[in-house]
Amino acid sequence: MQVDRARFLADLHGLRAFGACGAGVVRPAYSEADMAARGWLAQRFEAAGLRVQTDAMGNLFGLADGPSILLGSHSDSQPEGGWLDGALGVIAALEVARASREAGGPAVSVVSFQDEEGRFGVTTGSAVWSGHLALAEADKLLDHGGVSLAQARRVVAGAGAVDPSQFTGFIEMHIEQGPVLDTVGERIGVVSDIVGIRDMKITFDGQQNHAGTTPMHLRRDAFQAVAAFNRLVEERFAPVVTPATVWTIGHLSMHPNASSIVPGRAVFSMQWRDGDAERLAAMERIIRDTAQEVAKRRGLDVAFGPMSGLEPVAMDARLRGALEASAQDLVPDAWRVMPSGALHDATNVARLMPVAMLFVPSIGGISHAFEEDTAEADLITGVQVLARAVAALHAG
Ligand code: GLV
Ligand code: MN
Ligand code: MN
Repeated sequence: MQVDRARFLADLHGLRAFGACGAGVVRPAYSEADMAARGWLAQRFEAAGLRVQTDAMGNLFGLADGPSILLGSHSDSQPEGGWLDGALGVIAALEVARASREAGGPAVSVVSFQDEEGRFGVTTGSAVWSGHLALAEADKLLDHGGVSLAQARRVVAGAGAVDPSQFTGFIEMHIEQGPVLDTVGERIGVVSDIVGIRDMKITFDGQQNHAGTTPMHLRRDAFQAVAAFNRLVEERFAPVVTPATVWTIGHLSMHPNASSIVPGRAVFSMQWRDGDAERLAAMERIIRDTAQEVAKRRGLDVAFGPMSGLEPVAMDARLRGALEASAQDLVPDAWRVMPSGALHDATNVARLMPVAMLFVPSIGGISHAFEEDTAEADLITGVQVLARAVAALHAG
């Protein structure tokens, strides 16, 4: 099968126009730009001869008739997102579906999952579709602005369930989002496994007070509690973590957030990722114990929000083997097998069917930022590797 480079690139840039902001996109789940992009994608799926179906979460499918392989990713973005994160996998899937149909090849269905970027949780759309998270539970999740998922998904129209048993497997193409391929000058990464993640909100409640008159030793300062917590967990993680372990406080909101007021309340996100579920559990114990200790010592209250999480997942050997063979044919010795430190919908879909993933390089290793980009030649190579693997899986 032959992919059409110009058609693939035109659609990739077509999707980029929705929520465009500088070189990147602002297309968080269920926003106007996200829903407009999904409307446009639905038209592109239909034009490719696929039957469009959207489920209650807003996951958008373009379905081929009969049993098919499912390809795709997500088209929502981070609050400040790059143009390729997720979008590449959706448009590559669409192009392979078209190319395969034109060549009389295997049936290919396409998906764009909703809220992969976790406005509400962690890969929320595929988590619900896969049965990892009940819709009623997901509905209670709140974004950082206090909007519930139940409220946000009211913009989804025409929902119907999509039966996973029609799919023989799932392959997700994605940008690497890290520095490995770009640094070594390789063109393709075939994913071995995807790390696990834990994510929760932590709240310190102290006493709001006057920043000029309140002596330091009498303060119950919520920000100082966050700072002390951060310093201590870093020390306590040291004997437990490996160089591949990561943790992030990416969101912090303080009340009332004013220069002359000792902050009474701080709410922050604590997220940690690793390939080993036991290490994730050990880190959770450190986090909870440290937050409680800091709160007690400083006279504050601490509360933990619900913890979202996904377990580490290994890719399916057969699908992965097809990607490896395809990479070796097209870019001999310029590809590698590598783990994914970023999360992907493939983790959830692995509960339902065999899954695999391939990466193309991210320039400078930058992602979740407007500057995110990939050389055009690498985008093309990626979709060609994907198409060849899909054809080979069908053949044999
Ligand atoms: C998904 O975008 C992630 O945070 O890894
Ligand atoms: Mn992504
Ligand atoms: Mn992302």
